[in-house]
Amino acid sequence: MIPTALITGASGGIGKEMARLFAKAGYHLIIVARSEEKLKQLQSELDGHQVTIIVQDLTEADAAKKVYENIRAAGRTVEVVINNAGFGLNGYFEDIPLEEQLEMLRINVHTLTALSHYFLKDMKNAPLRNIPRGIINVASTAAFQPGPKMAVYYASKAYVLSLSEALAVELRETGVTVTALCPGATATNFFKTARAEHTRLTNRTMTPSIVAKAGFLGFVKGKRIVIPGLRNQTGSLAAKFLPRSLAAKLALYMDSER
Ligand SMILES: NC(=O)c1ccc[n+]([C@@H]2O[C@H](COP(=O)([O-])OP(=O)(O)OC[C@H]3O[C@@H](n4cnc5c(N)ncnc54)[C@H](OP(=O)(O)O)[C@@H]3O)[C@@H](O)[C@H]2O)c1
Repeated sequence: MIPTALITGASGGIGKEMARLFAKAGYHLIIVARSEEKLKQLQSELDGHQVTIIVQDLTEADAAKKVYENIRAAGRTVEVVINNAGFGLNGYFEDIPLEEQLEMLRINVHTLTALSHYFLKDMKNAPLRNIPRGIINVASTAAFQPGPKMAVYYASKAYVLSLSEALAVELRETGVTVTALCPGATATNFFKTARAEHTRLTNRTMTPSIVAKAGFLGFVKGKRIVIPGLRNQTGSLAAKFLPRSLAAKLALYMDSER
């Protein structure tokens, strides 16, 4: 019997690198995204590993339920849920269409919450006990301060961090761990999707493989928060001690055009 890892947003970026790592570690993968072709490419790259594809738009209101029911119908138990799928939007709050911002909240917040809720009982009762079981929620260094010009995105990641830390404490004696992975700027399609390619955020980026590796190792060690890279760690620490208004101004500087 081999353990199963569910990875959302595995068609590219950090999620794809997570998939490679969990496959190498011997997990059966269930990979979710909208781009069927990209998921199929990853499946054939991981030839020899068990990989199941679920094509699903995770901004749909009942997306998490559909994913859960699909997996249960196949008789699978999931040991690890990696809530990675998500996106950001750059611009002033009033200028970004409301529906786009609500879609962002649906994937970054609602679907992540619902998937965690659906799979938690199964993870607690999973027959495989001697392997790490739990949730990796991909938050961001954006979780540590307000983010003018990406206001809803930063707020959504603050939610992800807070939820993850609270669940980690609730579950501390169950063998199920919760890790919030908080990357800083990472070289993926994120900035294109966010319309933030010309902002200072892209001045220095890490590779998605380094970010995923930090998340994977942190999860295996049962860490509650993983911030990849010294620069990101220092920035997140500084954000904790600075007055919130100053931290927000610094975020505005970073979220603005170079
Ligand atoms: N890159 C950064 O600088 C950075 C920094 C901090 C945190 N993060 C977080 O890291 C996570 C992964 O982002 P990334 O940087 O790897 O960006 P990415 O390369 O754009 O990957 C995003 C992934 O999410 C999936 N996705 C997006 N919208 C979806 C939808 N409606 N339904 C289903 N899947 C959807 C995409 O697949 P499809 O398009 O095929 O659906 C893709 O696989 C996100 O939560 C992001 O907020 C990124």
